[in-house]
Amino acid sequence: MREHLVPPHGGQLINLLATQERTFELQAESRGWHSWDLSARQLCDLELLLTGGFSPLRGFMSRADYEGVCCKMRLGDGTLWPIPIIFDVSEEFARSTAPGETIALRDPEGVMLAVLHVAEVWKPDRLAEAEAVYGTVSTEHPGVEYLLNQTHPWYIGGRLEGVQLPSHYDFRALRLTPSELRAEFIRLGWRRVVAFQTRNPMHRAHQELTLRAAKQVEANLLIHPSIGMTKPGDVEYYVRVRCYQAILARYPKATVKLALLPLAMRLGGPREALWHAIVRKNHGCSHIIVGRDHAGPGKNSAGTPFYGPYAAQELFRAHEHELGVNMVAFNMMVYLEDQDAYFPEDEVPPGARALDLSGTELRRRLAEGREIPAWFTFPEVARELQRSYPSRHRQGFTLFFTGLSGAGKSTIANVLRVKFLEMGGRPVTLLDGDIVRKHLSSELGFSREHRDINIRRIGFVASEISKNGGIAICAPIAPYDQIRKEVRAMVQAHGRFVLVHVATPLAVCESRDRKERQGFIGVNERDVESSSSHVTGG
Ligand code: ADX
Ligand code: MG
Repeated sequence: MREHLVPPHGGQLINLLATQERTFELQAESRGWHSWDLSARQLCDLELLLTGGFSPLRGFMSRADYEGVCCKMRLGDGTLWPIPIIFDVSEEFARSTAPGETIALRDPEGVMLAVLHVAEVWKPDRLAEAEAVYGTVSTEHPGVEYLLNQTHPWYIGGRLEGVQLPSHYDFRALRLTPSELRAEFIRLGWRRVVAFQTRNPMHRAHQELTLRAAKQVEANLLIHPSIGMTKPGDVEYYVRVRCYQAILARYPKATVKLALLPLAMRLGGPREALWHAIVRKNHGCSHIIVGRDHAGPGKNSAGTPFYGPYAAQELFRAHEHELGVNMVAFNMMVYLEDQDAYFPEDEVPPGARALDLSGTELRRRLAEGREIPAWFTFPEVARELQRSYPSRHRQGFTLFFTGLSGAGKSTIANVLRVKFLEMGGRPVTLLDGDIVRKHLSSELGFSREHRDINIRRIGFVASEISKNGGIAICAPIAPYDQIRKEVRAMVQAHGRFVLVHVATPLAVCESRDRKERQGFIGVNERDVESSSSHVTGG
């Protein structure tokens, strides 16, 4: 294989940040412009555009670039580029924007980070984009889900001028821009650098893999995790970064560096691997590791993987000559018990007992408070994971009672509350209808809209309580399934959610209604209890 070594200090790097003088000019002019509040994903893309992480791009893609990228993985001028980097906006915003205009792009606090010089506004065919880029239109693929359900339907292409980079307050010493990283490699005297992309905590397999890769190509190692958006459900990056920091001591001294990449992953498998390589080249790396199922989104609900385990390596190989960065390919790493070491699958002698532990199994063990085997992960990493993912019996959770007015929700909720207090160990909060209506939602009525707002507030508080290790007991009527599902999703990000339908027959509810009220009967029924402040209604 012929190697294309980019000296870490070489290769053209685009810098879109304006000079101080120009920045003042832009700020003064910006008063009359339309503003756009950047989404989390747009913030990530913008940051890498401004710093040159996405060189040679100078802005959000034009229609010709976008279509070329979708169909042929090439920009209009023929340059290899596998993933669309587009600026998506609502139809309303698109219709009020014309080529030639300038838009102020703002962070969530309203700070102007960049200006976009609008060249084109168009409505893309997002289904065709999904098929071309991801090879599927199934929303079980997280990249497709994001594209079809969370991306705005209109795109705006144009050149960018950067005013300032998005502000970050965490791990600042580890957030190195392409030019900072290149300078760092020069300072360290590193001429060959192999990058390791990851969105997961690093275990022994990854440490072995990276060590082997560095030895194989006689390069230094850059651990370069993506900490923009990754796959929903991944270990959050704060935890991962502490794991990476812990594992650094497992490498020979001064051979390895950790830096964080604000990349919003698309989980595009093969195409994403090429993209990762271009971004790493821009960060001064000469090589990148591509292992099994690189940037893969996993399997669909039928258990079929979206991409073959080595499809990324194959596509990479076909384009390596023009990428300007070399692939270090690895087969699946497995643990050989007899030798107490990791080996690529293809080097395992026939008959040898090979061990592997999936991410799902790891999460299960963490949840059950079971031991994580030492052959799988280093103890310092295991400790960090256990600290951040306490076992089920130390996690918070939410009990959510639903049912008619008079069904007995409050009674059961109160009994449980005192039983939990009797047991001790976790703080308990009862979010009963009355309490909530008094403290959180006193201004709300009983229309469907107001009921939904009320339940959403309960859900938010319950999710915060669960996140912080407490027990939230909720007892609203919550007649609408959709909002109950929304609450479940909110809570489940942090702890267990148990929905209990107190299915007392209507007649019993009515006979219990000591205050001579009519019971709430169900979806779309009259809001009969709205006049009373004593109801347990939600
Ligand atoms: S991702 O970017 O590919 O989604 P992940 O953390 O899962 O991140 O993997 C990081 C890199 O390590 C990828 O190149 C992947 O192919 C490789 N990799 C992860 N686990 C293994 C393994 N057990 N054997 C071989 N390669 C692996
Ligand atoms: Mg993976």
